[in-house]
Amino acid sequence: MVPPRVEVFDGPGDVGARVADLVAATVEARPDAVLGLPTGGTPGPVYAELVRRSAAGEIDLRRVRVFLLDEYVGLGRSHPRSYRATIARELTDAVGVPDDAVRGPVTDGDLDTACRAYDDAVRAAGGVDLQLLGIGRNGHIAFNEPGTPFELTTHTAVLSEPTRRDNARFFTDPAEVPTLAVTQGPALILEARRLVLVATGAAKADAVAAALEGPVSPECPASVIRRHPDAVVVLDRAAAGRLRPAPTPR
Ligand code: GLP
Repeated sequence: MVPPRVEVFDGPGDVGARVADLVAATVEARPDAVLGLPTGGTPGPVYAELVRRSAAGEIDLRRVRVFLLDEYVGLGRSHPRSYRATIARELTDAVGVPDDAVRGPVTDGDLDTACRAYDDAVRAAGGVDLQLLGIGRNGHIAFNEPGTPFELTTHTAVLSEPTRRDNARFFTDPAEVPTLAVTQGPALILEARRLVLVATGAAKADAVAAALEGPVSPECPASVIRRHPDAVVVLDRAAAGRLRPAPTPR
C-alpha cells in the first residue's frame, strides 16, 4: 500500500485553491475528464474557486463529465436540497457543463436496478479520473456509514442519526432530512484513477486521524482510501490537528 499524500494548508480558502489546482491539472491533461464530485459544506471553497477561474478564463470545464457520489432518496432532482440541484447551483451551471453531462444516482423506481445502472454508467464513461471526497465526523465518505462492507459498489444506504443531524443544517425543517440515500460504495470509489479527500475544520480532526492512522476498517469508511495507489488528502490546520506527528503546513 502506498500511503496517501497528506497536504496541510492554513485554512479552507487555501485548501479550496489547492484542490482547484488538482482539478485543473486533470482537466488540462484531459479536457473531457470524468470528475466524481461530492456535495456538503467542505467543497464550497473548491467550487467557488473553480467558478472564479472559469469566469476569468483560466480553466475550461465545459467538456467535463460529472458523476455525483450520492443522492438522497425521496427529494427528487428538482428539490433545492437534492445533490443534483446543489451541484448545478454551486458549480456545473456556472461553469457551463451541459445538464446531460451531469449524472447522479437515480432515486426513484426500483433502487436495485438504479444502483446497477449507476455502476454501469460510471464504467461506461471510462471510470472516474478524479474523485473528490469529503468526510463525515463519523468517518463516512459519500453515504457509506461505519460498518459498510468495502466490497459494495452503488447501493442503498440508511443514514445514521449523527449524519442526519449534521446534514440538517441544509434544511429548513430537520425532519425533512431523508433517511435513505443511493451512494457509490467503497469498491466503486476505489475504481477512480485518483482520489482527493478534503477536510477542513476541527470537527473533522478525529475522523481524519482515524482514517489515516487508525486501522483500515469498515468501521472508519474513509480509511479505505489507504487501499488506493493514488490518494491525496488535502487538509487545513484544524482538520489536521490530531495527526501525529503534526504535519507542517505549506
Ligand atoms: C454528506 C455527504 C458526504 C460529505 C459529508 C460531509 O453526508 N454525503 O459526501 O462528505 O456530508 O459533509 P460536509 O462537507 O458538509 O461536512
